[in-house]
Amino acid sequence: MLFLYMLQGYKLFTVTHRTTDVSQIGDFLIDAPDDQALEKKLKKIKAYFGISELMYLNTCNRILFFMYKPEAIDVNAFFYAVNEKLRNMSGSLNQSIEYYEDELAIHHLYEVASSVDSLVIGEREILRQLREAYQKCKTQFCITGDKLRIAMQMTVKSAKMVYGNTRIGEKPVSIVSLAVKKLLQTSPPDNARVIIIGAGQTNVLMSNFLKKYNFKDVAVFNRTLGKAEELADRLHGQAFTLDGLQTFDKGFDIMIICTGSTAKFLDQKIYAQLLQGENNQKIIVDLSVPSNIDPEVLANNDIHYIKIDSLKKLAADNMAFRKKEISKVKEILADRVVEFKEIYRQREIERDHSHIPTEIKAVKEKALNVVFKKQLANVDPDTRLLIEEMMTYMEKKCIAVPIKKAKKDQLV
Ligand SMILES: NC(=O)c1ccc[n+]([C@@H]2O[C@H](COP(=O)([O-])OP(=O)(O)OC[C@H]3O[C@@H](n4cnc5c(N)ncnc54)[C@H](OP(=O)(O)O)[C@@H]3O)[C@@H](O)[C@H]2O)c1
Repeated sequence: MLFLYMLQGYKLFTVTHRTTDVSQIGDFLIDAPDDQALEKKLKKIKAYFGISELMYLNTCNRILFFMYKPEAIDVNAFFYAVNEKLRNMSGSLNQSIEYYEDELAIHHLYEVASSVDSLVIGEREILRQLREAYQKCKTQFCITGDKLRIAMQMTVKSAKMVYGNTRIGEKPVSIVSLAVKKLLQTSPPDNARVIIIGAGQTNVLMSNFLKKYNFKDVAVFNRTLGKAEELADRLHGQAFTLDGLQTFDKGFDIMIICTGSTAKFLDQKIYAQLLQGENNQKIIVDLSVPSNIDPEVLANNDIHYIKIDSLKKLAADNMAFRKKEISKVKEILADRVVEFKEIYRQREIERDHSHIPTEIKAVKEKALNVVFKKQLANVDPDTRLLIEEMMTYMEKKCIAVPIKKAKKDQLV
């Protein structure tokens, strides 16, 4: 028996932000309206290319197919099966797809799970996405098997080791989480009055944190009232259009402003209205680019100002810090791939000898119930019990002998 110790058969095809504009990654998706359609398509691809095991991951900046099939696969044909429209790309298709096989496929999977291949290095969300994708392909679609199982098991173990033994995920790099961190450093009470201006993606993310930290007194202002209402509902707050800023009379302690407007519409007149005559220091988190706040407001009022420029600088410093950890991660992963080879080798031997327990058990059963049946009928119950226990002991020992020998032979 020739064991494929070099992890032959694993293949990984991927399209990522590194090779393809994020807006075009969607072309490499399996176009399926629901899970049922996705399952059907994946099973069709699996059968057509004779793939033994398959899993599929799709995130906003990564499409990944991980599979087991010892024979070669025409990668272009594979992606044409994923999406017929890709035939039109023929030339540039090869530049978009990265292809890994055998040990390199495992290594790449480890890197993905450990987030060194991510757009935002150190963002461990990818590990969750990878595990969920595998679970779906395993339990819901039933298109994986033992080879992918051990690969994923070792991938998760390796990624956890990376996150636990390096500082790759430690310092926040998202503007929103840095903004929240700065805001919390001012120790605001949870009954602080919060004004949110803008109800786009960034403020929706900000609102998740406001909810988490239990801010209850919130007013949302936005150009489109419907979106202000949606955001306000999440926080049990009130919603207004931007005009509402001119008449709002509840006062505020914290302002979070982030819109796509290029105008400095928050002028001294509106600010004075919002102040309602209060003169204590206010906190402003300003994430708009460019800022919507008139410089006069910042110059003439007592404001603890958290601005996007400083957050961007912090994000860049923290990202540089994370990048420095990459070499440590790579060292860990190189060792883990060596470990995987050993685990895989042992598993192959166990698989190859999987018939032995059944065969030896059958020999035992035949001895007890056929060959020595008459003789056993004449012995007393205690003796019979002892004989059966001895047979069971022999059965276990006999099963272990050939597996042990095979493992030893392969090490020579
Ligand atoms: N560089 C970074 O890292 C970073 C990070 C965070 C934020 N930002 C900046 O934050 C801003 C918004 O980002 P986002 O992700 O929240 O965008 P988004 O999801 O597109 O939302 C845009 C928001 O701005 C409002 N808006 C757009 N044009 C407007 C105008 N002319 N007047 C008044 N309101 C207007 C929209 O109101 P409607 O609902 O009415 O459309 C919506 O609330 C951008 O300037 C972006 O550059 C940058």
